[in-house]
Amino acid sequence: MHRTRRGSYRCLVALCAVSLFVPIDVTQRGVSGPEELWVNGLEDAAVNQEHEPMQTADNIQWEPSSFQPSSAFSGADLGTVVADSYRGPGNNDRRINKELPILLWWSENLFPHFPGDTERIDCPFSSCLVTKDKRVKLHKRTKSIIFYGTDFRAYEAPLPRMPHQTWALFHEESPMNNYVLSHSPGIRLFNYTATFRRESDYPLTLQWLPTIGYLQNPAVSIAEKNRWRKSGYAPVLYMQSHCDVPSDRDRYVKELMKYLQIDSYGQCLKNRDLPNKRLEDTSTATTEDPEFMKFTARYKFHLAMENAICADYMTEKLWRPMHLGAIPVYRGSPSVRDWMPSNLSVILIEDFESPKEVAEFIMSLDSDDEKYLKYLEYKKPGGTTNKFLLSSMEKREWGVNDITAPNYLNGFECFVCDKENFRAGAEKMYKKSPKKTPVPEPHIAEYNHMGCPVPVPGFGTAAEIPESDSWMQMWPQDYWQSFDQGEALTEMILRNETNQEKFWDYMHEMYIKRSMNH
Ligand SMILES: *[C@@H]1O[C@H](CO)[C@@H](O)[C@H](O)[C@H]1NC(C)=O
Ligand SMILES: *[C@@H]1O[C@H](CO)[C@@H](O)[C@H](O)[C@H]1NC(C)=O
Ligand SMILES: *[C@@H]1O[C@H](CO)[C@@H](O)[C@H](O)[C@H]1NC(C)=O
Repeated sequence: MHRTRRGSYRCLVALCAVSLFVPIDVTQRGVSGPEELWVNGLEDAAVNQEHEPMQTADNIQWEPSSFQPSSAFSGADLGTVVADSYRGPGNNDRRINKELPILLWWSENLFPHFPGDTERIDCPFSSCLVTKDKRVKLHKRTKSIIFYGTDFRAYEAPLPRMPHQTWALFHEESPMNNYVLSHSPGIRLFNYTATFRRESDYPLTLQWLPTIGYLQNPAVSIAEKNRWRKSGYAPVLYMQSHCDVPSDRDRYVKELMKYLQIDSYGQCLKNRDLPNKRLEDTSTATTEDPEFMKFTARYKFHLAMENAICADYMTEKLWRPMHLGAIPVYRGSPSVRDWMPSNLSVILIEDFESPKEVAEFIMSLDSDDEKYLKYLEYKKPGGTTNKFLLSSMEKREWGVNDITAPNYLNGFECFVCDKENFRAGAEKMYKKSPKKTPVPEPHIAEYNHMGCPVPVPGFGTAAEIPESDSWMQMWPQDYWQSFDQGEALTEMILRNETNQEKFWDYMHEMYIKRSMNH
């Protein structure tokens, strides 16, 4: 691969001030479509940083139909309203597209706009252009690069890192998808984060809970559940087809099965066939297919084990059984209690000394309907008493399957857009009167924006597990290697490295340094 050396642009770029919030007459408001944008402006400018983009095509009018307002905070009437209606009430940003900061979505597969590569977004306080066209990666107007955590590769990160650009991380998925982000060196590469952690800048913690009402869906009656038990159903359902994961859940379930009857249907630890072959397609679970839901709701308990253990990482494995009225037997986020509808709604594996004790407790509820039903009281009117849960749901601005609210991808890009416009404003003020204005503070993500602990065996200790065990060979090593990757990339950035391909050299150098220190 050929890469030109572009590091020399940096100083020029840093010197170029952006004009902010220039009020212009609305009647003159012109917008260049995505194509012109590149032809007239950005591509030239990327090569000639010292020149302002040419001021042409400023009087082309908006065509509402060509503007796809999939952006956040958009009104419901998509086809007919003009662009101005999408802005938040605090957005008086009258700049034309060419004056707006650019946010670049780095992941090939994630650009939350359709169709096209570039779009204007009008956010609660300000406006930006968003694009997935990587040709703007060094442009002075490109103020932030947004990465999708699962696809983020330290060895493919955009270099050199431009001092005028922030990095934003969107990662709603499991920590197992990218352990680079679970360590300080990795997460501190980013300025803004949207993760499952409540401490992240734009938290997605309750992404799997559509509404509080979802929890209040009625349960199958206890009489019917007991009939299914009599007909041969186990008290507990396990359905898992993703085996060999960091939480090592199957090792625990196998042990639990020694003491407790569990009907296991997925690829991992399967001991029973589903009543209908069509349910073997896992999409019946992901789409909450009515037949799938009806079948699984017959069980009194569901084993709900996340694929990785991390604070605030909670998925449908937890919320769906609650929706159905089964008691989740949960292992996952150690802070899960904070989010539960009431103080008696789940069985937490970590509260017990051993799988045997968990089994005994489940059996005691299985044979005592009154005790069992106490775990479903959160479904009654007023039964959801957790104020933190209720207020978190009320405060969140994005929706799940809700066309009246923005989705969290568009919500986060607007969050970044407003941050970048505020930052540009603060920098401009500082430049104007450095004596009277404070230096704008950097904003850097912390370990607790994601930070997940090293994977441990699902049952027993590492010393008891043979080295040939596939989990042993995979996850602890993946975790620590990811730490090194974050450190290597940090070092590349510190040294103003421009060549991505040197990543493995940096990794190698680090290993050598480390072994010399030992
Ligand atoms: C749950 O909360 C209620 C009311 O606040 C309290 O009386 C009860 O003891 C709590 N139960 C547990 C198991 O903490
Ligand atoms: C962004 O984060 C980096 C560290 O990764 C830091 O050096 C830089 O100052 C931050 N930028 C802003 C604008 O906060
Ligand atoms: C990297 O570049 C910055 C200017 O952007 C400079 O201050 C710094 O000294 C450089 N670091 C190295 C290791 O060359």
